[in-house]
Amino acid sequence: MTTQEKTTFATAFEKEVYEGLTAFPKYLSSKFFYDKKGDKLFQEIMAMPEYYLTGCEYDIIDSHKEEFASIFSADNGFDLIELGAGDGKKTKLLLAHFMQHNVNFSYKPIDISADVLAELKESVNDTWPELDIQTQQGTYVEVLDNISTFNKRKKIIMLLGSNIGNLTHDLAVDFLKNIQEAMREGDILFMGLDQKKEPERILSAYKDSKGITEAFNKNLLKRINRELDANFDLDAFTHWPTYNPETGTTKSFLVSQKEQLVNIKSLNLEIHLQAWESIHTEISQKYDDSIVYWLAKEAGLQVTDQFADENGYFKDYLFEKASS
Ligand code: AVJ
Repeated sequence: MTTQEKTTFATAFEKEVYEGLTAFPKYLSSKFFYDKKGDKLFQEIMAMPEYYLTGCEYDIIDSHKEEFASIFSADNGFDLIELGAGDGKKTKLLLAHFMQHNVNFSYKPIDISADVLAELKESVNDTWPELDIQTQQGTYVEVLDNISTFNKRKKIIMLLGSNIGNLTHDLAVDFLKNIQEAMREGDILFMGLDQKKEPERILSAYKDSKGITEAFNKNLLKRINRELDANFDLDAFTHWPTYNPETGTTKSFLVSQKEQLVNIKSLNLEIHLQAWESIHTEISQKYDDSIVYWLAKEAGLQVTDQFADENGYFKDYLFEKASS
């Protein structure tokens, strides 16, 4: 029930919102969660007891930092390139350890959010004034080209927090292939992936008692209201996360509690929602070794090592280019 076909868009946000909300079934991309408010809500999520991912990965990194220092180190040093750095809470464990032991490296955090990067840079500069840090704003895909230009010394490409779990396997393989192409022999991909486990525990991480994840999910509608002059009624939607143990996929939806019309003025678009119609907003893939080894193989990578927390809830894997 669109009013008029729109074919030119000023931004990717406009284009993708238009495409997703005129499709059936409706969807919106989770990459648009992270505006200023979304960044803040995600930091709150990482601090929630239900969101076990962050604490587990923190413990893994904390208990293996010496080992990581020796695996990463090279005669002429290395570049630590972090995709989706966020507030860098877990990475700072490594930075502290490396700085304390005079490890020769530079830190190149990349994030979609300019605000988050500015804050990270400031706090790193404050804590370690002599640390060589260069930030870069952009989506993973945009910055991959740039990564391959860092080829003077060993690259450690880091992707923590199961961030790649927002991608379907197809897209994850494409993305990993691009990383693989940017890697040279001896470079390392260091990737954290949330593991399949008791379904209730997974679901709780996306369905917290305080409604922080609900606010995070609905913030997408708020952002559309603000940036695209729309009138979504946030209270007329139910936050609905699901976990399918067969596929290992957590999917989050916003479900319309009633039949309603939403007007998105900047897109010259009126959206019609049936009662209980859904908008799919996010996937958060859960993995096991067989999925990870399969992804690696598809992308021309090989797993060289892995590290788990004490419960095996979360794992960090090391990959290198597969020897052909
Ligand atoms: C940052 C993509 C890893 O999917 O677990 C947290 C984002 N969404 N709660 C995830 C998120 C809802 C998170 N990632």
